[in-house]
Amino acid sequence: MQVQPLAGAIGAEITGIDLARGVSAEEIAEIRQVWLQHGVIFFRDQDLPPGPFLAFARHFGDVVEYPFIKGIDGFPEIIPVLKQEHERHNFGGIWHSDTAYLERPPMATMLIAREVPPVGGDTLFASGYAAYEALTDGMKAMLAPLRAVNSSAKADVSKTREDRVKDSATAEAKKVYEATHPVVRTHPETGRRALYVNTGHTARFEGMTEEESAPLLDFLFRHQVRPEFTCRFSWRPGSIAFWDNRCALHNPVNDYHGYRRLLHRVTLAGDLPA
Ligand code: SIN
Repeated sequence: MQVQPLAGAIGAEITGIDLARGVSAEEIAEIRQVWLQHGVIFFRDQDLPPGPFLAFARHFGDVVEYPFIKGIDGFPEIIPVLKQEHERHNFGGIWHSDTAYLERPPMATMLIAREVPPVGGDTLFASGYAAYEALTDGMKAMLAPLRAVNSSAKADVSKTREDRVKDSATAEAKKVYEATHPVVRTHPETGRRALYVNTGHTARFEGMTEEESAPLLDFLFRHQVRPEFTCRFSWRPGSIAFWDNRCALHNPVNDYHGYRRLLHRVTLAGDLPA
């Protein structure tokens, strides 16, 4: 197994491993260490149909279902991240950390690419560690006691789900989820602090109105995706991305209108952010 970092703050590609032949406990432990260090890891050219893909994900945690969209046939835990030729919105097409509006947001997400456009459709990732660490001591002290309300109903992110909710909604699809989490969370495995707000889901600070919260939140939303905190991944069929929602944001780029893009996604259970 070889590890090639993609950028200074986040992301590494792992080569020299064929996941379809099965992975040993030692390899899983090694992959987990690389993942914890880099926040998101990537594999290329992996031949993993849904069953083996799910089995690989299960090495890292318990799989949880996504609240709004039904899974693919035979695999309720795997949702299709799909944009069709005629659609304009891409699923999750805004900077976010997955389902931060749940009381226990998922620890991790794994995606495998099935169909990709001829050009475009990359995904950007940003490090919550790098964003937090770059703040001044004054700002860190101000953020330390703050908690923020995260909602599934923010307009920009809801729009990105609309096309899939039309054809694959779950019975719960109309429900609004809301959860309050610390603005800075301590990663339970690495002990590092990460900024934990995101423009897709974070609506306001606890105890404040949206209007009162907006100036500081807007600064944090801009700050946390500064180019030096990010990396960019170009998909090919069989590419896998596995990211840590406790310390990483992501944003799929919507620059491939007229083409189809299909990935399969699973999420792994997380704990209470603290
Ligand atoms: C998502 O899970 O937010 C979608 C990511 C992507 O399409 O690259």
